[in-house]
Amino acid sequence: MEVIIQPDPASASRVAAQILLALVTRKPNAVLGLATGGTPLALYRELITAHKDRGFDFSRVTTFNLDEYIGLPENHPQSYHAFMHENLFRHINIQPDRIHIPNGNAPDIQAHCLAYEEAIRNAGGLDLQLLGIGSDGHIGFNEPTSSLGSRTRTKTLTRQTIEDNARFFENDPNQVPQHCITMGIATILEARCALLLAFGKGKADAIAATIEGPLSAMIPASALQLHPNAIIIIDQDAAAKLTLADYYKEADAAKPTWQQDHATAP
Ligand code: F6R
Repeated sequence: MEVIIQPDPASASRVAAQILLALVTRKPNAVLGLATGGTPLALYRELITAHKDRGFDFSRVTTFNLDEYIGLPENHPQSYHAFMHENLFRHINIQPDRIHIPNGNAPDIQAHCLAYEEAIRNAGGLDLQLLGIGSDGHIGFNEPTSSLGSRTRTKTLTRQTIEDNARFFENDPNQVPQHCITMGIATILEARCALLLAFGKGKADAIAATIEGPLSAMIPASALQLHPNAIIIIDQDAAAKLTLADYYKEADAAKPTWQQDHATAP
């Protein structure tokens, strides 16, 4: 695990954007796993700036989103379809037929989940999976006790996640859908690079458990301890409960030049 601690979310998002853009520069047809929520917003703004100011080309990139609510119409402002369109896709030159987001209104959800896994495989697998983390340690919507071997499927959100996400639904937990489709933990672990971002004090416990706690289905993000190329980029607040924070900072500062391109994904 590579842990990069940055002073604030803005600098952390810039480091993450550099990793992602370096990957797409090296591999213009990269397959990217994307996330929604508050955490990746500044990173998406960096990507949009790269496209608008420098003409960065996303036309050959393929994307797969982690998750989607079940039963929310695609045009609902809080659907992850709407979120991705509004916060990234409509601002860059990605090709619509290369965008994949689970369909929370699929008539046969189980068949749709199997097809989603197959589509990822057919695209050659994920080069990089971007992740946020829930305050309960979830990645995607793999809530605590999710199987570490899980694949794309439906999940029931925990009360904690429903309350955390109520801020997007007029602060009304009753408006937050209770069910979702999410890539599984095994799906995420198969990405050639896993890039997790976390900001703020509210993520400090989950981050400490993810990096320094035992591998446990109670903290689904701790499964990243098994990943050979997991990069965790956090701000000072999210790093507040790490025992080895100084070590991670020293290791990052002393990084040999041959290791400095963080995105070692092929
Ligand atoms: C979103 C997702 C979730 C979020 C997590 C953190 O696609 O998969 O795991 O990354 O709930 O959400 P924010 O970033 O809003 O704190």
